[in-house]
Amino acid sequence: KLPYAEPFRIKMVEEIYQSTQEQREEWLKNANYNLFNLRSSHVFIDLLTDSGTGAMSDKQWGALMIGDESYAGSRSFDALQQTVENITGFPYLLPTHQGRAAENVLFSVLVKEGDVVPGNSHFDTTKGHIEFRKAHAIDCTIDEAFDINDLHPFKGNLDLEKLEAVYRSHPKEQIPFCLITITCNSSGGQPVSLENIKAVKELSDQYGIPVLFDSARFAENAYFIKKREKGQQHKTIKEICKELFSYGDGMTMSSKKDGLVNIGGFIALKNREIFEQASNFTIIYEGFITYGGMAGRDMSALAAGLDEATEFPYLESRISQVEYLGNKLMEAGIPVQKPIGGHAVFIDALNFLPNIKREEFPAQTLAIELYKEAGIRGVEIGTLLADRDPETRENRYPKLELLRLAIPRRTYTNNHMDYVAAAVKNVFERRNDITKGYKIKREPAILRHFTVQLDRA
Ligand code: F0G
Repeated sequence: KLPYAEPFRIKMVEEIYQSTQEQREEWLKNANYNLFNLRSSHVFIDLLTDSGTGAMSDKQWGALMIGDESYAGSRSFDALQQTVENITGFPYLLPTHQGRAAENVLFSVLVKEGDVVPGNSHFDTTKGHIEFRKAHAIDCTIDEAFDINDLHPFKGNLDLEKLEAVYRSHPKEQIPFCLITITCNSSGGQPVSLENIKAVKELSDQYGIPVLFDSARFAENAYFIKKREKGQQHKTIKEICKELFSYGDGMTMSSKKDGLVNIGGFIALKNREIFEQASNFTIIYEGFITYGGMAGRDMSALAAGLDEATEFPYLESRISQVEYLGNKLMEAGIPVQKPIGGHAVFIDALNFLPNIKREEFPAQTLAIELYKEAGIRGVEIGTLLADRDPETRENRYPKLELLRLAIPRRTYTNNHMDYVAAAVKNVFERRNDITKGYKIKREPAILRHFTVQLDRA
């Protein structure tokens, strides 16, 4: 047997810079201990997000050159529409400038005050767009997702009993749709099984509730279905995607993930009437319906990217790199969400830093320590991100307090992963000396994690 190797070679490189611990301490202080405030040149390995940070292929760069910048009826739109329909089966396409814009446009049509939107754990902008409309997102994820050591192969699955309880306790008019996030970012990049998606669809049909997908990482989800779900091994990724989307009424997409582009998003729908209503909002918020905030060339690159992202060899190299890092951390006894998810390794900060109180933000403290240690930037998926309850204004303490190390697509090598693993191990070895976390100096009213200012507690 031969060892595994990436199905690509590198044509262009970008320099990155190392720094000293003293420099990093200074920069952190100036950034008010919020890693979003760091200059990228002050970061050696940037694992803040896998969103818009990947490398495009030569074919995508080629596609940029033949983009059609016509305001209306662009050829690039046609190419994108064709590709999206081929992969998802949804014929009606509205491009947007990124995923949250797709949420804004579609929810402007569908979500109203007092509504409830059940799903597996909603992403923060998605929840933001629901709560901004004075509606509520209800998390119906299976309980296994919140036990990091439970090896359930589909920890993104919805609990059908929890979902049915929502359907039973609210009138149909108050439930505009059920939202399935694939993969489920908030629970650790965990996939949803085809069987679960189908069951959600059947249950929702009984109650007359549409099913939508938040599809940012749909191709990674399809990879896990192929690898883990009984009877799916012989299917291609594209066949799995087609079946998966057949159980839904539409999707929002952040193309910055599985679209393999640096910016962009879209809505794709089965239903013409909703498409027409959403078209009006696209025009006022985003742009004309055949570009919706995207350059023609970016739509061409996206069409090529969606095609590449739904090929098995690409996905295998992508997801095995994430697993490679995860396995190194597990070997060192570091508590991580298991199984390792599709786009990131999630470290359990409550177990990693048991001396830090919840109100002093353990996951943020760990993010800061890792940056200090080695110039690596991760992101807190914990109490800062969970924000305050919109009514009581109290902190919301999520079940898990995680540090996410998101791996950009086709960007870093496994040597970088070795460096990251060594740095995390160093912090782990001195974890008992980390006894103080952080307190809030200033924060905005919503989505506070982006701009919050912190000080040492
Ligand atoms: N849905 C999911 C599941 C996401 O992960 C994101 C973004 C969005 C929607 C919003 O898309 O950024 O294009 O507006 N996630 C990024 C992240 C920001 O770092 O996980 P967007």
